[in-house]
Amino acid sequence: MAFRQLLSFVLLTHITGFGAEISVFVQTGASVQLDIQTQQLLEFDDLYWTKDKSENIVKYTNESKKVTLYKDSVIMYFNNETFSLTMKNTKKTDSGFYRARTSGKYEIDIVAYRVSVIDAVEAPVLAVNSSWSSPDPCNFTCNGSDITISFIYNSSSCSPEEVTSSDNHTLRLSCSGDSIICNYSNPVSWKTDTKKVNELCTVNEGKQEASPLWATAIICLLTLTWRQ
Ligand SMILES: *[C@@H]1O[C@H](CO)[C@@H](O)[C@H](O)[C@H]1NC(C)=O
Ligand SMILES: *[C@@H]1O[C@H](CO)[C@@H](O)[C@H](O)[C@H]1NC(C)=O
Ligand SMILES: *[C@@H]1O[C@H](CO)[C@@H](O)[C@H](O)[C@H]1NC(C)=O
Ligand SMILES: *[C@@H]1O[C@H](CO)[C@@H](O)[C@H](O)[C@H]1NC(C)=O
Ligand SMILES: *[C@@H]1O[C@H](CO)[C@@H](O)[C@H](O)[C@H]1NC(C)=O
Ligand SMILES: *[C@@H]1O[C@H](CO)[C@@H](O)[C@H](O)[C@H]1NC(C)=O
Ligand SMILES: *[C@@H]1O[C@H](CO)[C@@H](O)[C@H](O)[C@H]1NC(C)=O
Ligand SMILES: *[C@@H]1O[C@H](CO)[C@@H](O)[C@H](O)[C@H]1NC(C)=O
Repeated sequence: MAFRQLLSFVLLTHITGFGAEISVFVQTGASVQLDIQTQQLLEFDDLYWTKDKSENIVKYTNESKKVTLYKDSVIMYFNNETFSLTMKNTKKTDSGFYRARTSGKYEIDIVAYRVSVIDAVEAPVLAVNSSWSSPDPCNFTCNGSDITISFIYNSSSCSPEEVTSSDNHTLRLSCSGDSIICNYSNPVSWKTDTKKVNELCTVNEGKQEASPLWATAIICLLTLTWRQ
């Protein structure tokens, strides 16, 4: 008997994906729908969505089909057929750990979400190191609000560079034709600053004149390959 109970517990926790949480990034002001991610629910009396383990957001009672929303219905919507929870016009304070669970014969965690409400990135600034002097290749620097990346450009090479900060912001410098592109992104947005190489620095002209057509073709090919 004890074994059966243990087995059913293990099965239940397995079925419900106990411990797993889904990471969701939402741009400030946008909406997000949290689904229960399952078609069939085991018998239950009440279904709850909670935030940060204790704060009740909604309670749905199976018997009466009654929905009790503990939050403003302008910002929260509960679907009484799919049991999904939708948050509208999100704010940073809506970030947190959201969980759907049922109570009754079994206490079951159905699904858990780690919701992060974050702002869109600010536009990056691409510039060239002004102490650059003619014989050296160009040194481009791209500044995102919390990270910077630098990149040496010369007419015979253009390999993309990328850095990611601990808070999931990424800066990527690359070239396309005669342009340098700096792409600053986070999980909800991206912005770029693009400059023509010649606007910012004069690539070693002797080299460029000497560079045959096939070298340009290879650079184009490399750029295209990288972009795919
Ligand atoms: C809802 O309640 C009814 C009546 O108690 C029961 O037959 C049914 O299985 C319940 N549904 C769920 C999903 O628990
Ligand atoms: C869901 O709510 C709507 C309106 O509140 C109601 O008309 C409908 O019957 C409900 N559906 C279920 C399955 O309870
Ligand atoms: C510009 O690059 C030089 C080396 O080429 C470096 O010593 C200098 O610190 C850089 N300037 C800035 C403002 O980073
Ligand atoms: C390029 O410039 C950046 C900052 O402007 C500097 O940190 C870096 O050392 C420079 N790189 C070279 C090779 O000069
Ligand atoms: C990058 O930009 C931020 C403001 O967006 C500024 O505070 C910071 O000094 C800049 N860093 C560099 C290396 O230019
Ligand atoms: C261009 O850059 C590549 C890779 O950074 C380097 O191997 C090559 O020597 C550079 N060429 C010139 C002319 O500076
Ligand atoms: C970065 O993203 C991963 C998932 O893509 C997430 O687990 C992690 O918590 C995020 N880090 C921060 C600081 O938001
Ligand atoms: C910028 O980076 C983001 C995230 O990697 C990507 O989705 C987007 O297409 C990139 N934009 C350009 C113009 O490369």
